Amino acid sequence: MSFIVAIDGPAASGKGTISRAVAAHFGFAHLDTGLLYRAVGRRVLGGEVPGDAARGLRAEDLKADDLRGPDVAQAASKVAEIREVRAALVDFQRAFATRAGGAVLDGRDIGTVICPEAQAKLYVTASDEVRAGRRYAELVERGIETTPEKVLLDLRERDARDSARATAPLKAAEDAVVLDTSGMSIDQAVAAAIAHVTAQHR
Ligand code: DC
Repeated sequence: MSFIVAIDGPAASGKGTISRAVAAHFGFAHLDTGLLYRAVGRRVLGGEVPGDAARGLRAEDLKADDLRGPDVAQAASKVAEIREVRAALVDFQRAFATRAGGAVLDGRDIGTVICPEAQAKLYVTASDEVRAGRRYAELVERGIETTPEKVLLDLRERDARDSARATAPLKAAEDAVVLDTSGMSIDQAVAAAIAHVTAQHR
């Protein structure tokens, strides 16, 4: 039987960490759908046409080691506005979600568009400053040179674009539980997410 957990939220809200922990706790598969858009964005930076890049996406594309950088993130947010790109990625995400044994998908439109039927929905958020602080620490640890100010601007620009686009914008599903992780430790946020999913999983 399939059981779908949809976790949406803005950049660096903690949804990735929470999703991985929820998947490990329940033994579910996990798909970071942002990676699909990043992989398309990366191919477009390499000169491909967005629609072709999305339709031609392969498993190897998701393993590229430069998918996490800020340039690829911006390119991902830009290709994510294109209806044709989003349409090309729907079937893969839905097939992943409905696999036997349960799945956690995190992204921007999982609870609203990809899996409106998900049994558990979370919208993970945090203040801009908290999110920027987390992303800055993460980028520094990866050896990427940047400044806290640049990271904050970058996040705000991406969130504005992701929220304003016509197709599948970033927003909480009406039946999602909102989890603001601003004042929470990772352990607290993970515990709150697991408690919510457990309540739906009986
Ligand atoms: O989650 P992320 O930061 O890796 O996502 C990168 C970009 O991809 C994000 O700015 C918008 C886009 N995206 C999307 O439009 N829909 C999703 N389900 C996931 C990501």
